[in-house]
Amino acid sequence: MNTEIIKISATDGSEKYEEAVELLKNNQVVGMPTETVYGLAGNAYSEESVKRIFEAKGRPQDNPLIVHISEFSEIYDLVSEVPEIAKKLAKKFWPGPLTMILPKSEKVPSCVTAGLDSVAVRCPSHPVARNLIKYCGLPIAAPSANISGKPSPTKAEHVFADLNGKIPLVIDGGESEEGVESTVISLCGNTPKLLRPGNVTLTELESVCGKVLVDDAVLNPLKDGEKVSSPGMKYKHYSPNAQVTILKGDYKSFCNFVNSNKSPETYAMVFDGEGENLEVNFLCYGNKNDYRSLSNHLFDCLRELDTIGAKQCFVRCPDETTDDLAVLNRLLRAAAFKVIDLNKTLIGLTGKTGAGKSTVSKYLKDKGAYIIDGDIVAREVLIDNAELLNELAKNFGDDILENGVLNRKKLAEKAFSTKENTVLLNSIMHPAINEKIMLEANEAFKTHNVVIVDAAAIIESGYADICDKLIVVSAPEEIRKSRIMMRDGISEKDALIRINGQKADEFYESKADYIIKNYEPFLLENELAELIKNIF
Ligand code: TXA
Ligand code: MG
Repeated sequence: MNTEIIKISATDGSEKYEEAVELLKNNQVVGMPTETVYGLAGNAYSEESVKRIFEAKGRPQDNPLIVHISEFSEIYDLVSEVPEIAKKLAKKFWPGPLTMILPKSEKVPSCVTAGLDSVAVRCPSHPVARNLIKYCGLPIAAPSANISGKPSPTKAEHVFADLNGKIPLVIDGGESEEGVESTVISLCGNTPKLLRPGNVTLTELESVCGKVLVDDAVLNPLKDGEKVSSPGMKYKHYSPNAQVTILKGDYKSFCNFVNSNKSPETYAMVFDGEGENLEVNFLCYGNKNDYRSLSNHLFDCLRELDTIGAKQCFVRCPDETTDDLAVLNRLLRAAAFKVIDLNKTLIGLTGKTGAGKSTVSKYLKDKGAYIIDGDIVAREVLIDNAELLNELAKNFGDDILENGVLNRKKLAEKAFSTKENTVLLNSIMHPAINEKIMLEANEAFKTHNVVIVDAAAIIESGYADICDKLIVVSAPEEIRKSRIMMRDGISEKDALIRINGQKADEFYESKADYIIKNYEPFLLENELAELIKNIF
């Protein structure tokens, strides 16, 4: 099939629409401009037409479509009741970028609503969309006209790029003004609920409806097995081929991070006027302080990443303190929720015995870091953790448990009896410890920007892998030996046993981001002052 593109402008007469109207009346599908994004239009009353929409997009069958109308009065054919609140919202926001979910009428085929009892209805403001619906005399089912999972199209050529050969016609009505899909609000429950943010904001909705709930899926990933209110929210969405990562923090930290994590196909998406000091190619996606300008260019930029062959893209995070959630919601999905907060750093701290790790840890704590003691976590993870204890009993025998309580001595005897058993113990314990560290760190990040994981065997245990940076405190063996002999009142022989039980200096130092030299002629004060400059 050849895909034709025809240009239609707001002032064109009905004859321009004849071909599209004919196609829609014959249950074919057509690319249609709207003020939000381009839609893939079909006759909402025709199962054949709806089937074509799903096929052309490769859309999952359980994701319902929005039905588009040209006048408010047409809603009565589609829904079983029109509550007062729907009338008020339509009066304020229609025609425009708002979709309302209401109980569906018998007339709407269940393939449109993917079997749900409700239907999504929208009256777009784009004059070409409204004329097309009017001239057809039919409600028009239309999802965004992209291949499922890709960014929505905001230009006719985007539709052509995705659906060329799969649909007969795209109407080019110019670039979509809004740039993100409509706000979706459900009016089926007792309290209205925002299912998808768009350019009609939460505050605007609340000015008409009073309290509006925000569906959890708007800014959070779905938990395993969780049921969604809006099926479209469960799919990976708006994704270019590149791995997208959102970076929170100021522009300087953004540049530092990108420049030190770049590869040849790394790109950045930044705000207008930015780009200086970046060592990678970049796209600007709008004015930092103007959400409309960000939403206008967002999808175009995400699509551009594919055109230029980007493999990785770091994106400046939009302001999170406003109620304009649309841009953040789309970006989070494009990034599959991969967000790095550059203001928050998880840092590992280690050092061989006698090097002075505890002194450094105390100093960092005094400077405002939150300290997690890795050894304490390793001990506590075994308390009341039935799942972990069962796993250990399964591998090392039921006799390591006495009335459900761990006999640590017995476990140690068994686990350290052979090298294989030690490896097995570590493979069970370390993921559980890492998880506990992450939980404690996330809690601590609510009040602290820097969290330090202080642990002697941080590299061997794998805790260093979850840290952004690693500090190693070092001192020559002779100095460490006399320090621990004095500190712990032990003999030279015992001191050497402890020292020789640890790996060579290079093992630690090769993995370090910062090495603190805690021995003369270096001054610990100066070393620490330099470190503080880097991490806070
Ligand atoms: O701006 C827009 O809304 C564009 C233009 C073309 O109008 N359309 C659009 O459609 O974005 P689509 O299919 O890409 O997104 C529709 C969203 C999906 O997340 C879908 O799951 C949700 O609306 N939806 C549709 N019917 C629903 C229903 N009955 N209950 C809950 N969610 C529904
Ligand atoms: Mg879509």
